[in-house]
Amino acid sequence: MTTAVRALRATASTRRVLSVSRSRCFSYSAPHADWPHNTPSPSQFGTYAVLSPASAMQVYPDPRPVPESIPRPAYVPSNYFTAPIWEHLPGGEEVGADGIKLGSDEEKGVRAAGRLAGEVLAAVGKVIEPGMTTDDIDAVVHEMAVKHGAYPSPLGYSHFPRSCTTSVNNVIAHGIPDSRPLLATDIVNVDITLYYNGFHGDTSATFVLPAADAPGRELVRVTRESLELAIDVCGPGKSYASIGRVIEEHARKHGMSVNTQFVGHGIGRKFHAYPHILHHKNHERALMKPGDCFTIEPPLVQGSRPRGGLWDDGWTVATDTGARSAQFEHQILITETGADVLTRVT
Ligand code: MF3
Ligand code: CO
Ligand code: CO
Repeated sequence: MTTAVRALRATASTRRVLSVSRSRCFSYSAPHADWPHNTPSPSQFGTYAVLSPASAMQVYPDPRPVPESIPRPAYVPSNYFTAPIWEHLPGGEEVGADGIKLGSDEEKGVRAAGRLAGEVLAAVGKVIEPGMTTDDIDAVVHEMAVKHGAYPSPLGYSHFPRSCTTSVNNVIAHGIPDSRPLLATDIVNVDITLYYNGFHGDTSATFVLPAADAPGRELVRVTRESLELAIDVCGPGKSYASIGRVIEEHARKHGMSVNTQFVGHGIGRKFHAYPHILHHKNHERALMKPGDCFTIEPPLVQGSRPRGGLWDDGWTVATDTGARSAQFEHQILITETGADVLTRVT
């Protein structure tokens, strides 16, 4: 999430009042033909379906319920689960500085949140397949979160209506899970954030479905590598600017570019906190110090035009060119001796 995207969202003149649909229920895999414009076609970037802004969600579904016993983050409006959408109290986006006291219960708490988010993401990886809809994925994420006593952080975050984000092919980030069935040629990022015992754990991966083409696979591989290279330059006393340097160098070397509208972020008791973690070359002078906890989440795009535009649903950001985008995200805790990846599960 970035300031730029946030501003874009706030000013989108096309943003409409979304009405409420009652009784949306879990339904599995509608036939592909029922979903308009969902056919792979060849382009300079490969052969895949380009998601169209015409398919932007027009009506937000009712939120999946979360038991009262599970604590909600402060930004979720108190009437979010009960009131019609036009009566929702405005939830704050909640940005602040964070930082983890090493050796305390706070450290245990944030580690547990990261681990659980990683486990839910791994579980998604086991079940994801063509024919499943992105809303089916959302149901899996939601059920698993709630089962473990965690609140799915996206739900009710600035009116986001679902429990995770799903970003397919040309969608860079913040795709809203919906009734589009996944095609065997798709690549799809699933981004999971859980609020668990007072801390957020945030991680994402891009999954490659069985018939994805070679350029799509390469994009996903290079994106995953760029995150690993960035993790390798983290540690106490290391420069935040080195993260963007290694990511952009790796992307360019492979004919890809880095989207600069999304940044990583401090995280802990707050979902999005300072510092902003830039994924492109930059001159930030801050150094990492023990207790810093932040995400790295580079969105790489095929070709040299990485910018995206916002859809009418108020959230989805897709590339201007139709090129595909991939993204991976991990949550890092700087310790006295190195950098621990809290969302890595092995
Ligand atoms: N998980 C995203 C991130 O990495 C944020 C999603 S905000 C949402 O920062 F509301 F769209 F879920
Ligand atoms: Co995320
Ligand atoms: Co994040």
